[in-house]
Amino acid sequence: MSKTALITGITGQDGSYLAELLLDQGYEVHGMVRRSHASIFSLVDKLKPGECYHLAAQSFVNYSFEDAFSTFDTNINGTLHLLSSIKDRSPGTRFYFAATSEMFGKSSETPQRESTPFHPRSPYGISKVTGFDVVRNFRESYNLFACSGILFNHESPRRGFEFVTRKITSSVARIKAGLQQTVALGNLEPRRDWGFAGDYVRAMKLMLEQQEPDDYVVATGETHSVRDFAELAFARVGLDWKDHVVIDERFYRPAEVAVLQGDSSKARKKLGWTPTVNFKQLVEMMVDADMAGLAEGRFR
Ligand code: GDD
Repeated sequence: MSKTALITGITGQDGSYLAELLLDQGYEVHGMVRRSHASIFSLVDKLKPGECYHLAAQSFVNYSFEDAFSTFDTNINGTLHLLSSIKDRSPGTRFYFAATSEMFGKSSETPQRESTPFHPRSPYGISKVTGFDVVRNFRESYNLFACSGILFNHESPRRGFEFVTRKITSSVARIKAGLQQTVALGNLEPRRDWGFAGDYVRAMKLMLEQQEPDDYVVATGETHSVRDFAELAFARVGLDWKDHVVIDERFYRPAEVAVLQGDSSKARKKLGWTPTVNFKQLVEMMVDADMAGLAEGRFR
């Protein structure tokens, strides 16, 4: 297989970790950032990459409630265009789609596994269910090597500031430095299965190395509330979260996903994948990085 990879969304958290992993393995890595549908076609035609990782998306759940149309267009049509280009111009390309635990939504079982029915609770979740269906349909109709990774929440010091984990850890650093007193959050009750993004990109690569294309849940198997995350993050710098977290209902969602907890037995067994960072280590890694980043002036 050609050691050329194309990553859409390469400037995002996952794209950056994945690019590093592939470069370490001797790949020639090409990245795409917000390209038009026409240019996708000519790029796939020209590159004919051995692997294509489709990570680009409108991935912020809150925003998807405000603009469902653009979320659908980016996440559904964007995926369809890329897959169509591969089918027509480079059918040997192995394709990875960034599916998500958000597809389970109001789930009928916990933990969630590959066979758990989807019940998305946001336009973002709906768009990813449709993307997942498109990928499976191209696999079944055109015999493409197309996989979906159903990744549970994965975080890191490179996480965007709009997601709750980074919002909390960056605020902890600013509060500790005396630059602000409080952080306003929404619902503290939802539970998520939070892992480390650096671990999760390894699973993406492993999926494309298998004999057959398939879909896999990637998760730690642990679940914690937003409150748990805040408590640990503030405790890391010797502060009590109750003194600094205020609730602002503007951050509540019209429909919430209450509990996500993944059963990644299939990925562990078939891919030989295991996460290396647990919840406490993840929180501490992010707080420590933000404390250092603030001290070094990398963010304000
Ligand atoms: N963003 C945000 N901001 N979320 C908050 C806040 C806040 O101020 N306060 C509470 N929350 C709660 C949200 O309501 C949600 O239940 C939880 O914190 C996590 O929110 P996010 O960090 O925005 O992530 P997400 O779970 O909605 O979605 C992320 O994970 C998915 C995988 O399950 C995103 O990365 C998605 O793109 C990804 O697919």
